[in-house]
Amino acid sequence: MTLDQITALVRTIPDHPKPGILFRDVTTLLLHAEGFAAAIDQLAASVDDRPDLVAGMEARGFVVATALALKLGAGLLLIRKDGKLPGATIAEDYALEYGTDRLTMHVDACAPGARVLLADDLIATGGTALAAARLVRRAGAVVTGARFLIDLPDLGGAARLEADGVATSSLLRFP
Ligand code: PRP
Ligand code: ADE
Repeated sequence: MTLDQITALVRTIPDHPKPGILFRDVTTLLLHAEGFAAAIDQLAASVDDRPDLVAGMEARGFVVATALALKLGAGLLLIRKDGKLPGATIAEDYALEYGTDRLTMHVDACAPGARVLLADDLIATGGTALAAARLVRRAGAVVTGARFLIDLPDLGGAARLEADGVATSSLLRFP
């Protein structure tokens, strides 16, 4: 499948969850077996050095991170919203395009020096991914890069991640 064909499988819903937001809905891509597989294959092909772990940010990030981890032969690190993880956690607050939130990670989830690739469905302001990077680094692990199905470059998140030293790439761009 071409990138244009994969792009056409992402649905845009205006004014969700707030007026003025153009919501890029990845669920329609995930419903399409060939499109989903092609998107994950192409994203995995952009990773040169196999990480020890792929970290996914709840909730949509879990889908991309799980598929990438299996393809890359890496473990899966679940970075969750507040109050969900059962063990001892560390937390980071962050802002995103339509609000604020808190991400948490098990304090013992990654060994010091572990090489961790961040993965999510979409990067907008970069607030989520930067918070995830802070968590991974606080555990003494190394963020080797970040991969997203969708980049919204107008919101500057990928540039912010790069400025933070995280090699970032995405499959699709909107608009
Ligand atoms: C969305 C998306 C990314 C984040 C991107 O998640 O899945 O994680 O926003 O925005 P940012 O770059 O401005 O941080 P959301 O917090 O809406 O949660 P969800 O995955 O549970 O829908
Ligand atoms: N997360 C942050 N901004 C978003 C957007 N415009 N569409 C979908 N998910 C998002």
